[in-house]
Amino acid sequence: MTDVHVRRHDDADVLVGDVASALLDRLEAAQARGEVPQIGLTGGSIAEELHRELARRAPDSAVDWSRVVFWWGDERFVPADSPDRNARQARESLLDHVPVDPANVHEVPASDEVATAEDAAAAYSEAMREHGVGFFEVLMLGIGPDGHCASLFPGHPALEAGDAIAVAVHDSPKPPPDRVSLTFEAMERCRAVWFIASGEGKAEAVARALADDGSVTETPARGVRGDETVWWLDEAAASAL
Ligand code: 6PG
Repeated sequence: MTDVHVRRHDDADVLVGDVASALLDRLEAAQARGEVPQIGLTGGSIAEELHRELARRAPDSAVDWSRVVFWWGDERFVPADSPDRNARQARESLLDHVPVDPANVHEVPASDEVATAEDAAAAYSEAMREHGVGFFEVLMLGIGPDGHCASLFPGHPALEAGDAIAVAVHDSPKPPPDRVSLTFEAMERCRAVWFIASGEGKAEAVARALADDGSVTETPARGVRGDETVWWLDEAAASAL
């Protein structure tokens, strides 16, 4: 049974600072146990702010970035150098600023590397089978105003993906239309799932995701729980709770 915790913060800056501090602490603790923590990054605007804050704090942390393994919860199926790529955003805001081991950064194949989103999902699933350890130390996720997380959107076929690790998503209501997403089953293999949300525009979706009752089909963020699940919110995103 998962523990669900809600952590409220005055504003986005305080929120991002607390998430960055908690993540660095968690990575240091895992490495102190002799582990090589595997984390899942997400796309979106608050994630970019978090990446920048991690890069700012990295010089003062004891994290050995070469012993952190990076994955993505989802990716847009666009060319590798597209500004729409979550991996490009993460490299520009964090990964190019800390000494990662390139062999530990597992991007979803781009549309100029494989023919279809299905091929990209299959290759990413194979990479996770080969280089994953069966769970994430922390999987970070955003939430859309419609309650989507990663690229699992309300009423979308990808919600029914069964035992796949990653699936192709087409006709995404959030552009770009073609994506690859981890499935619910893959995203639940986590010591911790961290949802990060900022702004009034997320308040209703956050409230639906945390309500006692509701459907995963209508609010996919209801469908992802780790051993521990933390909702990192600013007061605006928490305002409908
Ligand atoms: C994506 C993201 C997506 C994002 C949410 C929140 O690739 O689009 O993974 O799930 O996290 O849509 O995005 P914002 O923080 O920009 O609102």
